[in-house]
Amino acid sequence: MTQSVSAPTAPTAARTGPGHGEQLTEHLVSAEWNGVDSWSDPTLGPYEDLSLDPATIGLHYGQVIFEGLKAHRRQDGTLAAFRPEEHARRFQRSARRLCMPELPTELFLSAIQKLVAADGHLLSDDPSHSLYLRPLMFGTDRSLMLRPSVGYRFLLMSFITGGFFGDTVEPVSVWVSRDYSRAFPGGTGDVKCAANYAPSFNAQVQATDAGCHQVVWLDAVERRWVEEMGGMNLFFVRNNGKETEVVTPSLTGTLLPGVTRNSLLELAQRLGCTPREEKISLEQWREECRDGRISETFACGTAAVVTPVGQVRDGNESWLIGDGREGPVTYKLRRLLVDVHHGLAPDPAGWMRTIR
Ligand SMILES: Cc1ncc(COP(=O)(O)O)c(C=O)c1O
Repeated sequence: MTQSVSAPTAPTAARTGPGHGEQLTEHLVSAEWNGVDSWSDPTLGPYEDLSLDPATIGLHYGQVIFEGLKAHRRQDGTLAAFRPEEHARRFQRSARRLCMPELPTELFLSAIQKLVAADGHLLSDDPSHSLYLRPLMFGTDRSLMLRPSVGYRFLLMSFITGGFFGDTVEPVSVWVSRDYSRAFPGGTGDVKCAANYAPSFNAQVQATDAGCHQVVWLDAVERRWVEEMGGMNLFFVRNNGKETEVVTPSLTGTLLPGVTRNSLLELAQRLGCTPREEKISLEQWREECRDGRISETFACGTAAVVTPVGQVRDGNESWLIGDGREGPVTYKLRRLLVDVHHGLAPDPAGWMRTIR
């Protein structure tokens, strides 16, 4: 049941393993666009500094896109990347949005193959660790003209990571951002460009100052519809008396279509739940928590996997979700996804791509 609660406790980092993005591995894969019609073959080299002209276009005008995906060590010892083709497709959509050349899927996959083959040995068989892969592309022209670059560089780097929020899965508290917006119609909220992230830092600082772990974004027009949480998609577990619905905000053009979100919509069916995509207002979230219809909320993404949300704070008002602890549907969905990652649950759709 929902209840009014006092201010959430300040977030603490319970982490003994590697932090997110802190331990970069030994190699880097790199490719260059020839300025006209093709990419060079991605080549593997040592991880090293870049030499950039101070007038590099990408640095000034934000012609920078990136991706985030993971490779996991399966129970049989092999390494496999999770749905890399989907990430390649999103990288292509991001490129189109920012007037950049698309990296063909084969080159994206070959870069991943090379880096994971070289650095995968750094990933232990600790199932809570994974190899996070970060593809990046930026405009390289030496020019301060306000125009798309002609030259581009693609890089792929990686790091070993434990849990995004620490070693254990604890429910997070969220702060509804009333002062800032992440995305707006006609903008870039549905792609993964660097420029989407720095403007979110102020809101995250406000959330932390208010004692919360993360920000919840509302739509920028009506400031009514719940969109995402930080850099993650959101799900609500609702019992409508007959069935358990696993509901996520619909893709209105201002949300990032998460690969994890898409995967969980499929996995929910395997658990006998009904997946739904619909608009959810903040008021509805609060009221349905209050009357018990929404019993769980969780965030999902490559980094966070599936993370329960325990408490929401909107200005001076706050409410618990369920009893504030992780609910059973959240737990089962995370378990199933993690088992697919580690080759412990069937992978009928071929989501795991083995690295040879
Ligand atoms: C804004 C935003 N939403 C959602 C996600 C989750 O997407 P995915 O599940 O593909 O990692 C991410 C991470 O890429 C993100 O940056």
